Amino acid sequence: MSTDSLHDQLYAHLAQWGLRSFSSDADYFAWQRATLSAAELNRLNAQVERKRSGDRQDEIAFYDLTAEPQILPVLYSQRYEYFAEIGCRVLPRIGAATTVLDYGCGVGILTTLYARHCPETQFVGIDRSPASIAVAQSKAHELGMTNVRFECRDVEVETLRGSYDRIIATHALVQAEQDPGMPSRDWTTFERERDEKQQAAFEQRTSIDVRLDRLSGVLSPGGHMVIFEKTRQLARRVPFQRALARRGLQLIESPEPIRYRLVEEIADDGPFYVVQKGSSLPLAWNEAPEPDEGLPFNQAMLRSVPQDPDIPLYENHWPSAQQAWESLADRLVEQEETRRESDGRQLHVEFGSAEEQGYLYCANTFDQRQLILVEGSRKGMLDAYYREILSS
Ligand SMILES: C[S@@+](CC[C@H](N)C(=O)[O-])C[C@H]1O[C@@H](n2cnc3c(N)ncnc32)[C@H](O)[C@@H]1O
Repeated sequence: MSTDSLHDQLYAHLAQWGLRSFSSDADYFAWQRATLSAAELNRLNAQVERKRSGDRQDEIAFYDLTAEPQILPVLYSQRYEYFAEIGCRVLPRIGAATTVLDYGCGVGILTTLYARHCPETQFVGIDRSPASIAVAQSKAHELGMTNVRFECRDVEVETLRGSYDRIIATHALVQAEQDPGMPSRDWTTFERERDEKQQAAFEQRTSIDVRLDRLSGVLSPGGHMVIFEKTRQLARRVPFQRALARRGLQLIESPEPIRYRLVEEIADDGPFYVVQKGSSLPLAWNEAPEPDEGLPFNQAMLRSVPQDPDIPLYENHWPSAQQAWESLADRLVEQEETRRESDGRQLHVEFGSAEEQGYLYCANTFDQRQLILVEGSRKGMLDAYYREILSS
């Protein structure tokens, strides 16, 4: 099927769910206000807040609320582009599978899309939100679908039965979005130690240990898992990938980071993984930071650039700031401090001069890097910034 016709079918499917595409926040919120009463909006906002606590019941209550007929189209329209991006990537990967499990299927917007496109394949959608499952069941019935069934199950609470050629997990495995992940060995490196205790603690905190054990337990021999989670930051990506690898799940495609719009907000998400057990040609896991948008650094070039007194000569807030800092010629450290913050991260701040410039470098074990260079005569401004970072 051509990409255009796949997209057309996808958009038609989303329209059947009452979803609308918005590119302006003003238009979206005007529609939200016109569609939801003030009481509904208050209830939704209050439940979003409660969900942040990470409490299981609060999370279930939130997803139950999103399944209410007024709320569903409004809330999920924000994710219109997400559904389009994920739908068109997952569909071609269902291939000749006979059985597919969509774990954490929610109200079934994507599950029903997959099942309509692959009528020969049997789909099972599971979710622990009873109201979401009820909506999914009624939509499948309304669409006359016979190759999909939905079950209310919590993977953390019960073991799964059956054997599936594809297991799909999109935004459902790592719900602990606030978890900082695993810190690097120290502030000079992005590398994570092979520390089984730290790894197990991450898996337990985020519950991916039991979720992955149970899901990988029902993957058929040669079956694939298609995974898309909020694991883009290196501190979460590394332990998440190691959790997959520990269960014998091997990469069979290059992971793809995905950018999509949530109305006007840009989400950098993923990566999109396809993994398999016992692959004969697995790809290596990549634990390096992603290529970033930091400016290439050349100290000699800086001196020839016309100076605007309010703009630093060089500023880089990306991982590549580390290479730029390492390549500073004749670096003379004037003040530096390395300390452990209350959340456990190690922070290093350094201020000094390099050739005729003043520089400030800041690095921590959760992969944040920052390098600023100014003309030597303006070094005082960096001194002030140095003290500000340490006092904050
Ligand atoms: C953000 S929604 C994602 C829905 C859908 N997969 C998608 O991509 O749009 C996450 C869903 O995972 C479900 N979920 C989270 N933990 C679960 C668990 N342990 N067992 C079953 N479902 C779970 C939630 O109830 C929620 O409906």
